[in-house]
Amino acid sequence: MADYSQFTNYPESAYLYKKNKGFATKAIHAGQDPDQVHGSVNVPIHLSTTFAQKAPTDFYSQYEYARGGTPTRHAFEECIAACENGEYAIAFSSGCAAMTCVLHSLPKESHIIVSDDVYGGTNRYMRRFAVEKFNFNVEFVDLTDTEAFKNAFKENTALVWIETPTNPLIKLVDIEALVNITREKKKDTWVLVDNTFASPYLQNPMDLGVDITLHSVSKYIGGHSDVIMGALVFNGKEMKDKLFYSSISFGGCPSTFDCYLAVRGLKTLESRMKIHCRNAYSVAKWLEQHPLIEKVIFPGLESHPQHELAKKQQRGFGGMISFLLKGGKAEAFKFLSSCKLATLAESLGGVETLIEHPASMTHASVPAEVRAKLGITDNFIRLSCGVEDVEDIMADIDQALEKACKKEQ
Ligand SMILES: Cc1ncc(COP(=O)(O)O)c(C=O)c1O
Repeated sequence: MADYSQFTNYPESAYLYKKNKGFATKAIHAGQDPDQVHGSVNVPIHLSTTFAQKAPTDFYSQYEYARGGTPTRHAFEECIAACENGEYAIAFSSGCAAMTCVLHSLPKESHIIVSDDVYGGTNRYMRRFAVEKFNFNVEFVDLTDTEAFKNAFKENTALVWIETPTNPLIKLVDIEALVNITREKKKDTWVLVDNTFASPYLQNPMDLGVDITLHSVSKYIGGHSDVIMGALVFNGKEMKDKLFYSSISFGGCPSTFDCYLAVRGLKTLESRMKIHCRNAYSVAKWLEQHPLIEKVIFPGLESHPQHELAKKQQRGFGGMISFLLKGGKAEAFKFLSSCKLATLAESLGGVETLIEHPASMTHASVPAEVRAKLGITDNFIRLSCGVEDVEDIMADIDQALEKACKKEQ
């Protein structure tokens, strides 16, 4: 069998960028030296699914078969690794495929601690597959409660799954505190952070000691709602061998064209994130004093329970806002279908403003009693604030609120 370890990135180059450069420079250049043959400045799209050998197992380069890697995918992996200050990365066909790879790399029947408020698809996979089909012992815990976290540990806890900020309640988890507790409890437990909501620009969990950072590249990294992809970033050859072996065995590799789009997306991540953050801050402040709004959840507001942690842990407050409008399901549905600029759609992190109803859309697969306990009520709205002119975003929300929630005098 071929030695698959050759098929991953060249960490030396990622190291160089990590040590010496700022975020935007890494995002634009890491893993993207001009190509050796023609000097193309942009990474070429390598469509070949297989790579010639001079003699059996004597390869021209580290590539053999495209499920294990292509030069275009490799460029993305080096770049995202550098942006997250990690040594290695593996790209996947989706964020969910990245999640599956991690779960399939654990010892059988492991105990897994998972944030109680996570993306609906993560919740569904953990309950319906990890537990029901693969015999893992999954425990959902409020990770903002460190005592509850300490008490959840077992002999065979193999993975701690943190999402911060969480989806859709935008709760923040103190990554460093949880890493420290984990190391005291059990040295070999992996700590993973799903960093999708923050993006690598706002937060780098590897700097706080986590073992694996996961991204749904489909969100801020792709940035234009035209790529479905995922990524894992991590350190150490042992971890690389384990995760890479799972990834080639279970498939879930990204298309080369998507890797190209993801490389392109990373180049403007910093510029886009700055506008997402600025717009979201203005919209959240404005919504907070709006007479038709009951509550706004945004880490940049002083009313947010982890506002201080947000200032310490993140470089900005992000582009995601959740809010409760005054009314119930009927008002929420009327509001959502009255929005004209904000598009009613799942997903987040694109340049355009997206708005949705978690209880019936992204989190419909979460059992109703769990949603009720978490506070994902029928008047709960999630807004992914785009980079359009902020006045236009506010005007659109305002007219839709008036239509849906204003009582006739
Ligand atoms: C926080 C988070 N993690 C993971 C995923 C899954 O990513 P994908 O849709 O790329 O499979 C999503 C998707 O919405 C998400 O919001």
